[in-house]
Amino acid sequence: MECQKHLFQIPEGIHYLNCAYMSPLLKSVEEKGIEGMRMKRNPIAIKPTDFFTGLVGVREKFGEMINCSPERVAFMPSVSYGMNSVITNIPFKAGQHALTISEEFPSCYYSAQRWCSSHGAELKVVARREDVPEKAMDWNQRILEAIGTKTAFVVMASVHWMNGCLFDLEQIGARCKEVGAKLIVDGSQSVGALPLDVRKFHISALVCAAYKWLMGPYSTALSYIHEDFNEGIPIEESWMTRPNSERFDRLTQYEQGYKPGAVRFDVGQSSNFILVPMLDEALRQLLDWGIANIQDYGRQLTEPLIRHFIERGAHVENEAHRAHHLLGLPLPPGTDGEALVGELQARNVYVSLRGDNIRISVNVFNTEEDVRELMAAL
Ligand SMILES: Cc1ncc(COP(=O)(O)O)c(C=O)c1O
Repeated sequence: MECQKHLFQIPEGIHYLNCAYMSPLLKSVEEKGIEGMRMKRNPIAIKPTDFFTGLVGVREKFGEMINCSPERVAFMPSVSYGMNSVITNIPFKAGQHALTISEEFPSCYYSAQRWCSSHGAELKVVARREDVPEKAMDWNQRILEAIGTKTAFVVMASVHWMNGCLFDLEQIGARCKEVGAKLIVDGSQSVGALPLDVRKFHISALVCAAYKWLMGPYSTALSYIHEDFNEGIPIEESWMTRPNSERFDRLTQYEQGYKPGAVRFDVGQSSNFILVPMLDEALRQLLDWGIANIQDYGRQLTEPLIRHFIERGAHVENEAHRAHHLLGLPLPPGTDGEALVGELQARNVYVSLRGDNIRISVNVFNTEEDVRELMAAL
């Protein structure tokens, strides 16, 4: 696929290799936001039915992206919200533990930690070993070995947010299914740029912040939630998730249950008239480009970069165990990472420092020139 920079408004001369931090806004997404804001100038433009229609397309498009039906999709404000919604509803049996990976994102870790402390269970952490040549392959293998019949759930990412390791979720999901453990995935750093199939990978829940690779606005997240959680207790008791909430005249005819599917986990005021149409447009654009094409664009763009690093003796995971849109480059010992990132910024090159890695992330708005500038600056 061709570079899509013309659909964004990144200032000339800025080399933004940092979509893992936050995507720039598509022009078309910005337009939807402005339209949404303008609607409230005159509230008669907002009909009661509009409270329920905005998310229909969002659920359909996200479902298409990750291979689930729209009713399994919930709209949320953050990953911490999604993780807590799901994990607190995982039942505990005596002797069980939870499992995660080292340096997992805090929004996942803290929910798992809460579940463990409230049940007196152990939170096992499978660490990445630095003293092996194939770090990601070794890590993946040890995660598989750690999953057993006493594992209640595994919470982890599909691509590690700091170092770009790509996990084999198909194998991990199959192992979880075999032992009856739930696989809870943080897709924030992959979904939208790397194909993911919740059914093929036997995922119980997938939570994605939408302001990165899904190109939506901040304060939005989307989750896939499996039927196993159909009786789950949501964080909030929103009127909108109850049957017949479309009838504004009868809202005090209180209902016992919830609407079907994952809707019960939607955040209150889920009809956000600004953010939802923005997210809908972003998903439309991503599906139109094709997620596999986006990943392939990243592969083409980062090829010279990978060669550059390998020639200079840097550790780069082999192709099967790294994603092409997000790379973590371990800094040589003794490097002042902050100073390095500051130096790059002084040259208009934007990346992130995460732990001892500089994290480089590319998307369809990036150009070959961005990559050349990064290499020259490094
Ligand atoms: C892997 C990952 N998960 C989640 C988030 C965001 O979490 P939250 O939506 O809870 O702010 C980030 C943000 O950088 C992230 O990198």
